[in-house]
Amino acid sequence: MTLFQPTALDGKVAIVTGASSGLGAHIVEVLANTGATVIAAARRRERLDALAAQNDRIVGHTCDMSDDEQVIHLVDQTVTDHGRVDIVINNAGVTDGPASALDEPMTTVRWVSDVNLHAPFLLAREAAKNMMHTGEGGSIVNIASIHGFVAAAPNNQAAYVASKAAIIGLTKELAGQWARYDIRVNAIAPGYFPSELTQDMMTSDEAGLGYIKKNTYLRRPGELRELDGPVLLLASDAGTYITGQTITVDGGWTIK
Ligand SMILES: NC(=O)c1ccc[n+]([C@@H]2O[C@H](COP(=O)([O-])OP(=O)(O)OC[C@H]3O[C@@H](n4cnc5c(N)ncnc54)[C@H](OP(=O)(O)O)[C@@H]3O)[C@@H](O)[C@H]2O)c1
Repeated sequence: MTLFQPTALDGKVAIVTGASSGLGAHIVEVLANTGATVIAAARRRERLDALAAQNDRIVGHTCDMSDDEQVIHLVDQTVTDHGRVDIVINNAGVTDGPASALDEPMTTVRWVSDVNLHAPFLLAREAAKNMMHTGEGGSIVNIASIHGFVAAAPNNQAAYVASKAAIIGLTKELAGQWARYDIRVNAIAPGYFPSELTQDMMTSDEAGLGYIKKNTYLRRPGELRELDGPVLLLASDAGTYITGQTITVDGGWTIK
């Protein structure tokens, strides 16, 4: 199903983090198929090369999001090579789960915060400076989670939940600070979708998939294509009056 004209993002330059698998790899393809030049960032270079081989609008960029210098370089290189940044999809993410909050090491907690919260903050800020410079605004989309709203326990992951709640707050604050530059900052809070992050749950019948089905009103995990509409709405001119919002895409998990 074609949701948007394949030219809807013509001339736009997008950065997508966590592009080597799962949601990120899918979002890269969606944006590129809608006309954007997409800088696909992650650590696993061979995955990025495979993605880039499918579409000449996709460019791989190796980047460890837990390293501030590399995050800053990601924006600098994009501006040098492509002249601008119009769209950022802050998607790279890691989890500490399953782990009990009572005994997980603080190094793990800090690692999750670095990748899920501090890196998106820095990338948004560096990209926003370029958006302010061009004077044409832009769109930043943070991939949060339903677990920014509701607990994950018994699928314990306290650092993950804290980071996702924080990024929903950060989304509102940056939207407020940067609205005057026509920079929109929004988030998407997915429920459960197939990816490396959820692979163990999706393949274990009772404890995993059964748990997801039981807690989702639509009785199934999401399919990656079901994120296309929300991503394109927020990234494109279809969403020019939407800022500071988090769109939940969860088959109804959070409605009760
Ligand atoms: N799948 C779901 O059900 C679900 C639900 C709610 C929210 N989310 C969110 O969606 C986002 C994507 O997750 P996913 O499910 O697609 O998981 P995934 O398949 O495990 O993908 C995670 C991505 O993040 C990248 N990444 C991890 N650490 C990184 C680092 N230090 N530097 C650079 N890149 C790093 C990985 O790339 P490399 O290893 O190659 O660097 C990979 O591309 C995450 O923010 C996650 O919290 C997912």
